[in-house]
Amino acid sequence: MSEQPIEVQDNAGVVRLTVNRPKALNALNSDVIAALAATLDELEARNDLRAVLITGAGEKAFVAGADITEMRDKSAPQARDFAGQALATLKRLEALPVPVVALVNGFCLGGGCELALACDWAVASDNAVFGQPEVLLGVIPGFGGTQRLPRRVGPAMALDLVTTGRKIDANEALRIGLVNRVMPQAELEDYAAELTKQLGGNGPQAVRGAKQAVHDGMDQDLDSALALETSLFALCFAGEEQREGMSAFVEKRKPNF
Ligand code: HXC
Repeated sequence: MSEQPIEVQDNAGVVRLTVNRPKALNALNSDVIAALAATLDELEARNDLRAVLITGAGEKAFVAGADITEMRDKSAPQARDFAGQALATLKRLEALPVPVVALVNGFCLGGGCELALACDWAVASDNAVFGQPEVLLGVIPGFGGTQRLPRRVGPAMALDLVTTGRKIDANEALRIGLVNRVMPQAELEDYAAELTKQLGGNGPQAVRGAKQAVHDGMDQDLDSALALETSLFALCFAGEEQREGMSAFVEKRKPNF
């Protein structure tokens, strides 16, 4: 693997991003955040994008947090700036119009857990370890953890994790809804390949519409959100995909999206 802080592989519009600092367990420093922002500049400009998978280099870690060595000597304004840049970048990742999936292949701590939380969903290998251990370092989560974690797992469990700093294994992460699936580490690559095929084969506009409905609807009251769903559903009938998908069913063949 080259020395790029973010490695990018494209498989017909399903883009796989690898945080590539394995010697530091893929800790997020300013270079990684800047590289992720630059990668997002390119992804946002593409209209052939179908999905994004994000993982960590090596067998040990997804991302073991923000880089503690870099943060140690920061002043309060510098810390605000660092967090602000990372937050804005994770917001852009989350706002991509396609599914963004975290493939959690090991330690997923602090800023790493916050990166996973900015993804639409996460799958984990059975050796993965999750946590928001910031209080053990005298700080609180700063890449969105105090806000996205309670939205994902509920406020009581989020408060448990952010105030104790305790680490949890992949099965507990599954039980509390932090990840969708757990599998042996050796199977994570097969799952990634399956997901690449699945998300790459579905109607791209429909997949985008489904993500938009869930994301935008979550910020609205139920009646407005249901009206949004109806608009997006109707919009599907203005494009080609609906006709192809439904014709393929009637004609007993696979759709070609
Ligand atoms: C910088 C890190 C790092 C981190 C690991 N490393 N995590 N460097 N920042 N977050 C480095 C180690 O210093 C070490 O470098 C190398 O990676 C391997 O790590 P070891 O500790 O030797 O491995 P191991 O004994 O297996 O322990 C793994 C670990 C431990 C349990 C994950 O590394 C650990 O506790 N890391 C910190 C986890 C953490 O507290 N994360 C939250 C950070 S705060 P050398 O050079 O010695 O080989 C945060 C805030 C987000 O994320 C918000 C900010 C605004």
